[in-house]
Amino acid sequence: MWDYSEKVLELFYNPLNQGSIDDPNQPDVAVVFGEVGSIACGDALRLHLKVQPSTDSILDARFQTFGCTSAIASSSALTEIIKGRTLDQALHITNRDIADFLGGLPEAKMHCSVMGQEALEAAIYKYRGIEVEHHEEDDGTLVCTCYGISEKKIRRAIAENDLSTVEQVTNYVKAGGGCGSCLAGIEDLILDAQQSVETVRAAAELAVEREQGIQPPISLTNLQKITMIQTVLDKEVRPVLVADGGDVSLHDVEGDRVLVKLQGACGSCPSSTETLKYAIEAKLQDLVLPSLVVEAI
Ligand code: FES
Repeated sequence: MWDYSEKVLELFYNPLNQGSIDDPNQPDVAVVFGEVGSIACGDALRLHLKVQPSTDSILDARFQTFGCTSAIASSSALTEIIKGRTLDQALHITNRDIADFLGGLPEAKMHCSVMGQEALEAAIYKYRGIEVEHHEEDDGTLVCTCYGISEKKIRRAIAENDLSTVEQVTNYVKAGGGCGSCLAGIEDLILDAQQSVETVRAAAELAVEREQGIQPPISLTNLQKITMIQTVLDKEVRPVLVADGGDVSLHDVEGDRVLVKLQGACGSCPSSTETLKYAIEAKLQDLVLPSLVVEAI
């Protein structure tokens, strides 16, 4: 028997906002839905949003869920959390926020909160005309074929939830819960993430020491520089951009010039110059080398 919080049981027995939203055919009201999971895998969620385009805000949210107690409670919690928020605010909601709203979830059921977060992103990306499939599969690597889980999705779950064991990854995204042939690959991703965290931490400490005059400026080999730049992009920059439907990839490093490619929503965004300067260049100057200059290709 699972140890569910009172809030989980309350929203399971009396779910709020269950159902769909009909298109009212009114000016300044748009209806969209996002869908994740599959009934064959045990859980599926369709999240319906009523959006006011003039304010970019969510007027109403409803859900249709096939799944367990946690899946239904997580879906209901999500609709309560997002109503009244702007789409940009909603994109910053994490699976942790859903679990926290519920007073916690058993760890083996955390994938239900992840499903809610993904359905929300799917609905918003669909409304904005961004391909969700691209968002899921753009690194092209499928780690768990039993559940169709990509490397990108596993890396994100590890980073956003500080996961440190394969069992936790299975609990959050289901990868590894079938034949088990992907377990070694998941372990490698966890180790890689832990090394990245260490690199960023060391870089941050170095930056503080440099600022305080404790450490003289150091010269990095090109390989060290590229490794640190890639790590900072992966850990500090990309999660923020991905949450807004964009992304960035490192193209090349020539001396102090860092050439990057802006993707997704960032590629066509009118404020891409600000993104380059404030979100990417400032971070790299802080954490890697103050002399770095970022350019888009
Ligand atoms: S490939 Fe991941 S459990 Fe089978």
